[in-house]
Amino acid sequence: MIIIFLSITFNTILVSGSSLSDQVYQTPADMYNKPGETAKLNCSHSIQSYDQILWYKQSKNKQMQFLGYMFADNGNPETGIPVKMDGSANKDETSTLTIEGLSLNSSAVYFCAAKHCDQQPAYFGNGTKLTVLDPNIPITPPTVKILQPSLKECKDKKDKKNKKTLVCVASGFYPDHVSVFWQIEGENVTDGVATDNATLRDGKLYSITGRLRVPARTWHTPGRKFNCTVSFFNGTHTTYHSGLVYGTDLGQGEGMTREKYLQITQTAKLSYGVFIAKSSLYGVFVLVLVWKLQASSGKQSN
Ligand SMILES: *[C@@H]1O[C@H](CO)[C@@H](O)[C@H](O)[C@H]1NC(C)=O
Repeated sequence: MIIIFLSITFNTILVSGSSLSDQVYQTPADMYNKPGETAKLNCSHSIQSYDQILWYKQSKNKQMQFLGYMFADNGNPETGIPVKMDGSANKDETSTLTIEGLSLNSSAVYFCAAKHCDQQPAYFGNGTKLTVLDPNIPITPPTVKILQPSLKECKDKKDKKNKKTLVCVASGFYPDHVSVFWQIEGENVTDGVATDNATLRDGKLYSITGRLRVPARTWHTPGRKFNCTVSFFNGTHTTYHSGLVYGTDLGQGEGMTREKYLQITQTAKLSYGVFIAKSSLYGVFVLVLVWKLQASSGKQSN
């Protein structure tokens, strides 16, 4: 009895320790459809003796809904779920989930999992992200910019643990099939990287922010190139959109880019203009007042 228990435990550890999840494949990774169309999602695996494929739908609220499963060649959708499952759940064969009559609510990430029987763990694929496109909104790639570290952040420049945070803002895109990456001098960095899980929706379009925290001395290298790159699936291709900033000297006014300088001088010009216009208006007002007073005093003396 103990031996059986041990062997099951050992087996489970052995199985979860290996990378069997890498042997569950889902295609495509991203897809766009129009309302009313039919979507076909594929799943296959190469795990010996596994013969079941389970399908799940993960909606925006992150909740997982079980849609049904395939056992060998038999599809078993849950009752009331309007999907079809066909193909085969056996090793190296393809199982297909068909969703007909797509609506905006069909937009979700669909996961498949390969399984053998109750005792054995199931292994998930990477998911297919499906968006049913709103016909009123055109596919629009993101605009990417980087906000430089704030001056207020950790003033003590001698502190070795001093960090600087760069913020990447990708905005104005639809739909929200994006990922955010950072590069320093063209090299991908993953240390100190955080991306908000959720895209925000402002009206019709989406935005997302990501952050990169680096040691202050990494930032204070004049001319060092910091890129934030956002990948965007446009229905057929993945396109890349980058923002760029250069590290600055300790002495330099931090974050003073040409753009910012222009913006400040423009604002100054504008305020000055408004000031002159106001003064002129006041001048005219005084003139009119004086003229009226003179006119009325003239009338009285008559
Ligand atoms: C998607 O990107 C490709 C490659 O850049 C481009 O040729 C195609 O027109 C784009 N499609 C849309 C819908 O923007």
